[in-house]
Amino acid sequence: MRIAIVYDSRTGTTKAAAEKMADLVTGKGHDCSVVPVEGADAAEVSRADAVCIGSWTEGLFFILQHATRATMEFIGTLSLEGKHAVVFCTYKTSSGKMLPKMAQAMEDRGARVTGQFKARGPDIPGGFPAWVDELGS
Ligand SMILES: Cc1cc2nc3c(=O)[nH]c(=O)nc-3n(C[C@H](O)[C@H](O)[C@H](O)COP(=O)(O)O)c2cc1C
Repeated sequence: MRIAIVYDSRTGTTKAAAEKMADLVTGKGHDCSVVPVEGADAAEVSRADAVCIGSWTEGLFFILQHATRATMEFIGTLSLEGKHAVVFCTYKTSSGKMLPKMAQAMEDRGARVTGQFKARGPDIPGGFPAWVDELGS
């Protein structure tokens, strides 16, 4: 399968997580692109079989968490009818309702969001490896 990973990272944590996710995906025999949101091509990403979108957590540390504006704007340009999708984030204290909101935005673009994963640092978010295994080949 072709899997596209798009991330927004301010200080490198989400970038590192996304790159580790990409290594895992390619290690399982899939094709994978991993690109920062500012350089991502919506048409190209929309052609992948499965799409993973990640953001760092922006908020007031205990309340009002949200994905970055760039992330949400990019999601709004995608065309994902019937595609498998995952949303993910890195965070420090709480990601609040950020992941469900990202998932809803992806579903509004037609995606079937089957994973919402988070990591408290530059690591593969928990649950992602099992999601990849369930994708099959
Ligand atoms: C302005 C600002 C607001 C943040 N708000 C939150 C927050 O509400 N909750 C949280 O868990 N982390 C928050 N963080 C921490 C980052 O989301 C976290 O460190 C993240 O992993 C950084 O990812 P990056 O290195 O890819 O930019 C905030 C960071 C900044 C700079």
